[in-house]
Amino acid sequence: MIVAIDGPAGSGKSTVAKAIARRCGLTLLDTGAMYRSCALLAVQAGLDVYDPANTDAIVAIARAAEIGFEQRDEGQGVFANRQDVTVQIRTPEIDIAVSPVSAIAGVREAMVARQRAIAGNCNVVAEGRDIGTVVFPNADVKVFLTADPQARALRRAVQRAGGDAAKDTGATADQASIDEILADIKRRDAYDSTRKVAPLKPADDAVHIDSSILSIDEVVERILSLDEGLRALDAKAGPSDDVFGMKGPAGTSGRTKPAKSGTRAEKDGGIPGRLRAFGNNSFDDYYDHSMGDYPLPAKAFLGLVVIIVGGVTKMLWPWSIEDAGKLADKSAGRMIIMNHGSLLDPIPIVVSCWMRGVSVRPVFKSEFNLNKLTTWFFSRVGGIPVNRGTADMKAVRRTKAALERGENILIFPEGTRIKSDDEPAKIHGGFALMAQLAKASVVPVAIVGARDLRPKGASIPQFFKRVYLKAGDAISFDSLNVKGKKQQAKAMEELAMKKVVELRDHLRAKHPGKM
Ligand code: DC
Repeated sequence: MIVAIDGPAGSGKSTVAKAIARRCGLTLLDTGAMYRSCALLAVQAGLDVYDPANTDAIVAIARAAEIGFEQRDEGQGVFANRQDVTVQIRTPEIDIAVSPVSAIAGVREAMVARQRAIAGNCNVVAEGRDIGTVVFPNADVKVFLTADPQARALRRAVQRAGGDAAKDTGATADQASIDEILADIKRRDAYDSTRKVAPLKPADDAVHIDSSILSIDEVVERILSLDEGLRALDAKAGPSDDVFGMKGPAGTSGRTKPAKSGTRAEKDGGIPGRLRAFGNNSFDDYYDHSMGDYPLPAKAFLGLVVIIVGGVTKMLWPWSIEDAGKLADKSAGRMIIMNHGSLLDPIPIVVSCWMRGVSVRPVFKSEFNLNKLTTWFFSRVGGIPVNRGTADMKAVRRTKAALERGENILIFPEGTRIKSDDEPAKIHGGFALMAQLAKASVVPVAIVGARDLRPKGASIPQFFKRVYLKAGDAISFDSLNVKGKKQQAKAMEELAMKKVVELRDHLRAKHPGKM
């Protein structure tokens, strides 16, 4: 059995290959580590890897190199000429040096011969750039794994900061390092795909999988579904536990006791079921599960909050929604977007959707999770936190899943509350991307009057001021008549925000004096 996984840096190949090796009892062949080892040995020998005059010397080093792997609790150890180079081969210096070294035909010949020799003795899952095209053109399963460059850069940035974006899918990193890594990834992509020898390209018969917003488990399941033999190996090796760890020698499944931590969804093998009351559910469990799966006490709490907060706010600031029926569609999740003027804004939407029997999940900035109590509260009312200013792929995945389950998402694209029309509002276009991924329609909504509830300088809000909302028609991606994914998202972002402004202006004209 040979499983070939090719793809660019940061596409998730290594984690996916590791998980498959572990689940199906295959030997993991990290071919990138072999080229990295050659680059390290050349650098250690004092060779300038960019100087063509050194090509023969580098090829000689590669041919003579003894490269070996060792399975460890924390992952795979790599040895080159009996030194443990596991850490050294992952430095930024080797990230750069490996490109010219791996482009040398003689180096590749030497490495490919070894890769084939290893696969001659056992079942392997090999990951690299040319596995399906050159090394094992007859592989049983061929996958070309991609991910958008932002997502790949985020994973690498988290990895560099000592985290693991695969284990902690909510992990984030600072934008400066993401940008720096993004530039390096683009440089390497260009180099690896345009080099003469064995360029990075999918085999004609490879199955393409985009891992940008899929979890590792989802990618692994998709790969397992491609081949009966692979599924049989998986079944033979027993039920899956911690797919991220690798224990035992290469080529053994090395199953370990179940992971101690993890969300219920992870513990349930990625298939979310109903959350148990008092079941020690984590906040993540609430973000990942359908609100319909919340335990009864949590549902009762939400009902109470809706009735009390809805009732009190309606009394203090009588609010009403024109065309509220457009907010909810029982057959499909909708992305609701609106302008943002006060903390009251989400309440009418949550109450109206709740009364129509449709869950709505407000996306809120993670800074609102000030302490355990606020985090607890937001998780119970269906909130999904987002780390702003970073590529928060976990939030994207969660909103996509919620929309696909038929839940509504509520987002304020202006990000922060806008206190005056003179304030320039930067629109966060993420809502269009999330809606597009879930093929959900976008419903524009406007609110007026809320901004005046606490005028500038006032320490307490003013009561009994009316607040008006209006929902617009749902906009579907099909109705945009725009080709190309990126162009579609951009068009949706512009049109939906334009509609919000139109609705707001309509309300202002109808209720003079209201902002
Ligand atoms: O997967 P990685 O980032 O560890 O790979 C390191 C480098 O090695 C990468 O820049 C491309 C090269 N490589 C290759 O040319 N062919 C392979 N089969 C694997 C990696």
